[in-house]
Amino acid sequence: MDLTDQNLSHFMELPDRDIFAKTRPFMDFMNALKKEEYFHWHRILTSPSEHRVKIHDIYTGEIREMVMMASNNYLGLTTHPRVVEAGLKAQERYGAGAGSVPLLGGSLDLHRELEQRLAKIKGCEDAIIFTSGYSSNVGCVSALVRHGDVAINDRLNHASILDGCKLSGGMLRAFKHNNMESLERVLTECDNEFNGKLVIVDGVFSMDGDITPLPDVLRIAHAHGARVMIDEAHATGVIGEHGFGTPEHFHVEGQVDIVAGTLSKALGGVGGFVASSKEVVNYLRFYARSYMFSTALPPAVTGSLIAAIDVIETEPELREKLWYNIRYMMDNLRRMGFDLGRAETAIIPIIVPDERILKLMSREIHQAGIFLNPVYYPAVPKKLSRLRLSLMATHTQEDLDDTLAVLERVGKKYGII
Ligand SMILES: Cc1ncc(COP(=O)(O)O)c(C=O)c1O
Repeated sequence: MDLTDQNLSHFMELPDRDIFAKTRPFMDFMNALKKEEYFHWHRILTSPSEHRVKIHDIYTGEIREMVMMASNNYLGLTTHPRVVEAGLKAQERYGAGAGSVPLLGGSLDLHRELEQRLAKIKGCEDAIIFTSGYSSNVGCVSALVRHGDVAINDRLNHASILDGCKLSGGMLRAFKHNNMESLERVLTECDNEFNGKLVIVDGVFSMDGDITPLPDVLRIAHAHGARVMIDEAHATGVIGEHGFGTPEHFHVEGQVDIVAGTLSKALGGVGGFVASSKEVVNYLRFYARSYMFSTALPPAVTGSLIAAIDVIETEPELREKLWYNIRYMMDNLRRMGFDLGRAETAIIPIIVPDERILKLMSREIHQAGIFLNPVYYPAVPKKLSRLRLSLMATHTQEDLDDTLAVLERVGKKYGII
């Protein structure tokens, strides 16, 4: 099988004579990748998602240690003693599960506490929590954008936002990534065509690590009578003076109409949230179907998340260490000659335009004990395939230097630098 001409999208386009027809060639494709040791998805960890992990290596059959460069546990909070302790205490007091969907008996005082803490750090009146960042985006967008409305997206917004748009009764428009002229143009085109307009951007973009120009987005959108929603998945805990995210980074707290995000990255747990006015939050409790029809977050997770916010507020040294690590890696990778695109946060893409070379590189990087992910089309545009690093506060100097040494060796070998 030619591994270069086929990618995941190929299998989604196969005709469905039997509904399972697509699964066999997809399995063959995966097995062919495995045979060549190109398959690096779904690696199984036998340890916490920390700066060094143990994995079950399908190629050697052994448990081996790797430097983890692919976790979104930016501040190391998944294993922070205060966070773990709070989760255990909540589990002891409230049990293992919430027992019901939030509106029908599953709402704990712990959930409300978490919502209020999130609202506060995001500079909003209130907040609502969901069981994932995916479901908060899907629920929020599909509830608000209705027939006659339009959702106007940065082209690189996360898939969950696009899925929310598809589920909504409204129309979907896109503007060029971080391009304010393009946003203005699309808004002008939409002015007379639609009722409500919702401009949606990621705070930090998940494949490029760059930051949305939020003050400009707000100015342009509001001038056209549009509301603005921002997805803070990779910004919370990472940017802003206190780690409160993109609005704090740009000093525009209280001006963003909807601040959404996930609880699964820097906050170290799982779940999602939407912070906004009391009216919007109240509306979402009844119209966001992924909230209404899904059981509330487990107590242990909720307790841990409240403690995670405490840690973000009281231990700024974690964020400072994360930023030391980000700068150290970016400076050194750029000095070596790697193309890091527009990276400016904890997500660092290393652009490898040729997918064939990316496959070879990622095989060698895995063999050398560095855990990071190759990202191919259609997850990113063609010719912009990449290795995606994400940094953590808990990475040691040795982790960083080991990673740099492997990347330099492999990058030189394949002519990337
Ligand atoms: C920008 C962005 N939004 C939303 C999500 C979904 O969050 P979750 O993993 O909590 O479902 C992710 C990542 O997974 C993301 O990168």
